[in-house]
Amino acid sequence: MSYKSLHFYEIENAIEDSLEEVLRGLIGKQKMIPPKYFYDEVGSNLFVGITEQPEYYLTRTEVDIFRCYLLEIVEEIGTNCLLIEYGSGNSEKIRVLLESLRPCAYVPLDISKQYLATAARSLAKEYPWLQIHAICLDFTDEFELPFSLNAKRVGFFPGSSIGNFSRLEAANFLGRVRRLVGEDGGMLIGVDLKKDPIILRQAYNDAKGITRAFNLNVLNHINKKFRADFDINKFEHLAEYQRENGCVAMYLSSIENQKVNMGGSEISLACGEQIHTENSHKYSVDEFASMARESGFSNQKVWTDSNTWFGIFYLS
Ligand code: AVJ
Repeated sequence: MSYKSLHFYEIENAIEDSLEEVLRGLIGKQKMIPPKYFYDEVGSNLFVGITEQPEYYLTRTEVDIFRCYLLEIVEEIGTNCLLIEYGSGNSEKIRVLLESLRPCAYVPLDISKQYLATAARSLAKEYPWLQIHAICLDFTDEFELPFSLNAKRVGFFPGSSIGNFSRLEAANFLGRVRRLVGEDGGMLIGVDLKKDPIILRQAYNDAKGITRAFNLNVLNHINKKFRADFDINKFEHLAEYQRENGCVAMYLSSIENQKVNMGGSEISLACGEQIHTENSHKYSVDEFASMARESGFSNQKVWTDSNTWFGIFYLS
């Protein structure tokens, strides 16, 4: 089978996963592991499991907003755009939009080559009318599109993935998107909103323990990838809302004094010492809108659910 409308590119700006980088994060005062290490195959499946938990309202709420306001969203963006998805993963959410939005081309960006290729191929099969230009790259860096197509460029960044960036990183990222999409381009982005901390705490501490398993799995992934010997039974999952930072922070807390070996180096952990694994920033509508304005987007339209728990913004 051939895919006439599917093109594949690779931009070699991806930072290599390195033992040194991870080791540096684990010998400092505040130990940390970058959140990208959550997503090995087991972790990616656990994340899907999280999105199905009753406490984890984010995914469900966002998809409901897309469905409910689909026509308004499409009207705002207009058909025939060049739709660029940042971190497309399995290209699941785009399916809600495609039939109505009818973009002239879809450009999934993802750092995982294998995942990107598989997802792009199945999308191409499902939507034979759709032109797809899949690009494997690290989208957090500045880049240009490796092909030319004269159409309005619109970025797509759902799932509140922007929450993993610090506020400064998020503003810089929006600035880079603004430069890529240009004067008449836009950006459709899902953002988790500030709310009662109890709701937030529950979303990251689900009763079935899927988030706990997801957090602990980062150690299994590190074990395999860097020949380390973390024992997940000696760590506890912690997730709390930090009001002063406006984010849910996740940690793995050591339950005893222990030494861990990683690629020949020794890491010491004291009882109660924490490894930071993720920040998930939450914004108020005004906070996010003014950040977007400062990044060069002069118009901001927002759709929310009835609880105002989640916002979908169209920046232009
Ligand atoms: C995929 C980054 C949006 O921060 O809510 C879910 C990841 N971490 N439960 C989030 C996550 C713990 C998720 N994002």
